[in-house]
Amino acid sequence: MGLATGSSPLATYAELVRRYEGEEISFAAVQVFLLDEYVGLEAGDPQSYRAFIEREFISRIDLPKENLHSPDVADAGLETSGDRYESTIAAVGGIDLQLLGIGTDGHIGFNEPSSSLGSRTRLKTLTAASRADNARFFDNNLDQVPRHVVTQGVGTILDAGHLVLTATGPDKAGPVARAIEGPLTAMVPASALQLHPHATVVLDDAAASKLELADYYRETFAGKPSWQSV
Ligand code: GLP
Repeated sequence: MGLATGSSPLATYAELVRRYEGEEISFAAVQVFLLDEYVGLEAGDPQSYRAFIEREFISRIDLPKENLHSPDVADAGLETSGDRYESTIAAVGGIDLQLLGIGTDGHIGFNEPSSSLGSRTRLKTLTAASRADNARFFDNNLDQVPRHVVTQGVGTILDAGHLVLTATGPDKAGPVARAIEGPLTAMVPASALQLHPHATVVLDDAAASKLELADYYRETFAGKPSWQSV
């Protein structure tokens, strides 16, 4: 599994924990890969994405500790971090299910607008918009928000077997509409989902409010043949 951080997937994690506690599922044989990680935080910083996912999800399931992978953001070796992460993903046979959120600027992972649609895991510089969006996790102090991250690339994300993007609330309505119905463009990295043969987008009414064909999508979903899952 590939996991996103941020608030969007929290309900998904809560549901997976519920199913684990109900003994419906186990993560004992699962390998987990984070989408991205901040560069420049102290190891173990509670705002690191690794700490976030351990707190919100991994500590509550039976995933073996060594099966949680995140980009290596140590200063030494930063230039090879992306390649090493790609090799680790490849060594387990790739990512079957990738959970995604979407940034207000249309990013997935931390692939900011203008990221190559073929990009692989690498160092990226955050946009001012992304740093402002994430300041809430850093005492609303912009100076504390890291400037760099290592993120899976758009091409890395597109290699996963099934992409599931979740978005809620009115702030996501614009980027969601541009990603789903706008042109395929590096300016909206989430529009790359249009290239994927198996992508599912889960929205609340507010996040879906700018979709031109919303009625058609509802009709399609309601009329799905019973053999066709999401
Ligand atoms: C960050 C993460 C993304 C996430 C996005 C949206 O930028 N790197 O993976 O999708 O935030 O976060 P939220 O779900 O909190 O709106």
